Amino acid sequence: MEKGQGPRKVLITGTAGFIGFHLARLLLAEGFEVQGYDGMTDYYDVNLKRRRHAMLLQNPNFKAVEGMLEDQARFDAMANEFQPDIIVHLAAQAGVRYSLENPRAYLDANVIGAFNVMEAARRLEVKHLLMASTSSVYGANELMPFTETEKADTQLTIYAATKKANESMAHAYAHLWSLPTTMFRFFTVYGTWGRPDLALYKFVAAILEDRPIDIYNHGDMYRDFTYVDDLVRGIRLLIDAVPVRPVDGVVPEGDSLSPVAPFRIVNIGNSDKVRLLDFIDAIEDCLGKKAIRNYMEMQKGDVPATWADASLLQHLTGYRPNTDFRDGIARFVEWYRAYYGK
Ligand SMILES: NC(=O)c1ccc[n+]([C@@H]2O[C@H](COP(=O)([O-])OP(=O)(O)OC[C@H]3O[C@@H](n4cnc5c(N)ncnc54)[C@H](O)[C@@H]3O)[C@@H](O)[C@H]2O)c1
Repeated sequence: MEKGQGPRKVLITGTAGFIGFHLARLLLAEGFEVQGYDGMTDYYDVNLKRRRHAMLLQNPNFKAVEGMLEDQARFDAMANEFQPDIIVHLAAQAGVRYSLENPRAYLDANVIGAFNVMEAARRLEVKHLLMASTSSVYGANELMPFTETEKADTQLTIYAATKKANESMAHAYAHLWSLPTTMFRFFTVYGTWGRPDLALYKFVAAILEDRPIDIYNHGDMYRDFTYVDDLVRGIRLLIDAVPVRPVDGVVPEGDSLSPVAPFRIVNIGNSDKVRLLDFIDAIEDCLGKKAIRNYMEMQKGDVPATWADASLLQHLTGYRPNTDFRDGIARFVEWYRAYYGK
């Protein structure tokens, strides 16, 4: 991108996290100036987060501030100094299962924290605010693939409920302050530098260490596994797809654009429903080793399947994620073995 052409300064929250790290890397490679903000929470291995930030800091166009989203003064000071054109808000208390154990962490980070980000975006009049929601907001919806224009009113966990609350809050701010806002609904993201609490990471670690893996609902589960490089490519392209409040409230067919605000919700998923047992078979093939399988009942709050309709993303950007899960697993395993020397 040439200097002076379009917005170049992007504030990303959650840059020490899995997706934030990958997005920052991509934007830095494209010549953006990136300000990171992350609280380095101990939800999982903080060393992994520090390693991600250390890699980003090798690029002179990346700066980072450590701080919690709930610390409004700290967040505002950082944002005021940087003066972003764009904010991509990815920091959150993530994880479906942990939200049964510690629901308050989700309210603090995902409701109060997200509100502080929205307030800063309004005050600084950013050109585009983009925030992470999740496929979990589809909750008990059964009509698949999931489309953004379907109602999503049956969240099954506090995690999903806080993300749905973000969508409503962001819609109100987009309406009140004409703040162009895009909410992403991500579908089961996996890949290199991944999250230790997610299935692929846990399975690979356990298989290599001869520990059993827990397989919920006896493996009769389906997920739309989305490779992280594809996901951040989708985010990158959506940065340029700034929503505009429709004239006379007329919304094009198939678009989730609000009739009363510059606000849109976009699925980012692979549009491929993969059976968990096939995913595990592929991990075993890649490792050349069988898992010790511990078949379990369905977990409270879990859903048997997720599957994205990604046609809106394709319509807006010309792009759709397409990594085959076997290729994605192979890339993850290669990274994992190199990272841990196993
Ligand atoms: N990974 C997935 O499969 C997936 C799926 C759907 C949605 N999402 C959403 O995508 C976003 C990024 O997820 P991720 O997988 O990179 O998770 P992650 O946990 O790796 O990254 C989140 C980062 O936010 C930071 N953070 C958490 N709470 C904070 C707080 N209160 N203040 C400041 N920093 C805080 C953490 O330290 C972490 O580095 C999240 O909003 C998550 O809910 C992820």
